Amino acid sequence: MKIVVIQGPNLNMLGHREQNIYGPMKLEEIHTQMEGVAKQHQFEIEFFQSNLEGEIVDRIQECMGEADGIIINPAAYSHTSIAIRDAISSVSLPVVEVHISNIYRREEFRHKSLIAPVCAGQICGFGPFGYHLAMISMIQILGELTA
Ligand code: DQA
Repeated sequence: MKIVVIQGPNLNMLGHREQNIYGPMKLEEIHTQMEGVAKQHQFEIEFFQSNLEGEIVDRIQECMGEADGIIINPAAYSHTSIAIRDAISSVSLPVVEVHISNIYRREEFRHKSLIAPVCAGQICGFGPFGYHLAMISMIQILGELTA
């Protein structure tokens, strides 16, 4: 079983950007922790980060036939991208949406995720630990799908 983790724009800046909101952890450290969980459960895992909407759409499409589930933090595109939402709908794979910050406690333009309605669920507001929760959730979803 394979999980693909897709990270949207500016998440490559974690550890440097707005530490008061996102904390000091770097993206590579988050990925190392996720790798640990994947290994424990004998899952394959692959990571992809892009600042470009079209590249994210391409990566989601490539998941068809290649991955069993997607964990995605579409970052700012969560609030704007019909293209990413449509890509998720197209691949019919389970998708878990992650946000490091609690988007509902922030500016109003962050309160709406266009992605959430086409995902299995959304985890937000728990900092980088949200990615760990997303892994556990995805492993549970995939376990149920194959049971
Ligand atoms: C974010 C929240 C988004 O509103 C923001 O644009 C991000 C990160 C989060 O993980 O909290 O870049 O997705």
